[in-house]
Amino acid sequence: MFPFPQGFVWGTATAAYQIEGAVAEDGRTPSIWDVFSAKPGNVRNGDTGAIACDHYHRVDEDLDLLADLGVDAYRFSVAWPRVIDDAGQVNRRGLDFYRRLVDGLHRRGVEPFLTLYHWDLPQSLEDRGGWTARDTALRYVDYAQVVHEALGDQVRHVTTLNEPWVSAWCGYGLGIHAPGHADPGMALAATHHLLLAHGLTAGRLREKDPSTRVGITLNLSPCEPATDTEADRAAARRVDGQLNRLYLDPLRRGSYPQDVLDLYREHTDYAFVRDGDLAAINAPLDFLGINYYRPNSVADRPESSDPLRADVRIPPGVPVTAMDWPVQPDALTDLLHRVSADYGPLPLYITENGAAYEDYADPDGRVQDPQRVDFLRGHLRAAHRAIEEGVDLRGYFLWSLLDNFEWSEGFAKRFGIVHVDYPTQRRTLKSSAHWYRDVIARGGPDV
Ligand code: FCB
Repeated sequence: MFPFPQGFVWGTATAAYQIEGAVAEDGRTPSIWDVFSAKPGNVRNGDTGAIACDHYHRVDEDLDLLADLGVDAYRFSVAWPRVIDDAGQVNRRGLDFYRRLVDGLHRRGVEPFLTLYHWDLPQSLEDRGGWTARDTALRYVDYAQVVHEALGDQVRHVTTLNEPWVSAWCGYGLGIHAPGHADPGMALAATHHLLLAHGLTAGRLREKDPSTRVGITLNLSPCEPATDTEADRAAARRVDGQLNRLYLDPLRRGSYPQDVLDLYREHTDYAFVRDGDLAAINAPLDFLGINYYRPNSVADRPESSDPLRADVRIPPGVPVTAMDWPVQPDALTDLLHRVSADYGPLPLYITENGAAYEDYADPDGRVQDPQRVDFLRGHLRAAHRAIEEGVDLRGYFLWSLLDNFEWSEGFAKRFGIVHVDYPTQRRTLKSSAHWYRDVIARGGPDV
């Protein structure tokens, strides 16, 4: 038995664009993901989030799933383009949806953990520069205040951003996510404005309502050298810098890591960093959300034209998920220790952890996913070990409640513990959902 502490928060997570659908209803305006996914070649099989899990119309049914699982909390995101229209005006009908959602959670005894931004920037703001423009950070602060005024009395935990690294680097640096730019200088400007949006908002919300717990969620991956050579060790440090320290350092220490800034001098002069910005970004945090999926085994790639000059490999013999991500739960324990030691003390939550596998319904309509159960069990044990060794980990949100729109992979990759048959929108609990329900009821996995 691996008993978690009393009060440990058991949850599941989703994000608006990945599940809601109803992209043109009740005054919602287009987001960068509507525009990006509509362009052929950007998303596998031409999938878009136009319908997704139709959660917008099935919210009660989906909340019943949460109640059935017995979760303590649910992490969801608000879609900015539902709440603010292209003229910058508040859209009450959009806010009403989230009011109903939050009420529905409370009625079922489930605590809402609200994420303000999970990648669906209004396209109208992208047309004015998106996250490369400082003004977007200021617009974000306005948007955050609107949501807080509408829902703040019902929502204690607010996360400003989900994975700013992905927004900045996949969206502006690599071109593989919306809005599809591939320029490292833009990715760095986006990074800074995302962090500024976070910091200004955290400061503002704390001023207005000290009872709100404000956090941010980062995707963190331990980076290990593929071999013990000096070259691979240096490569691992570069990847760690760009992926982890570029976000953790300004948030927790008020400075950007110099080695990372130096790597990109050819691509930007950093004129977007203004006096006072880093102090704002360094605003006190009530908690840090960590999304953990995999570590990186890094090899030097001297011939690469990319400033990182690195290859991320799968260590030999390590199993992988349907995303080709290596399954290495022990790295989660190390990561939690490192974050606490280098950037704590700070309450931590695992705001995402989970895996995609090739799930299907058998002739009896059952969905058996023993590999996911193994994955989750391993990671819960790793989290449990960290707690026993003194890490202040407060909760775990499984990604994801439902199979959903997995960004550039479309619907091909299934992360849910509840299977979604997209043509009929039928929901079926996978065996992992039954297992997770038992884990929650017992307060930890039994083996
Ligand atoms: C994370 C995202 C989440 C989901 C998982 C698999 O990077 O935050 O929306 O796509 O990966």
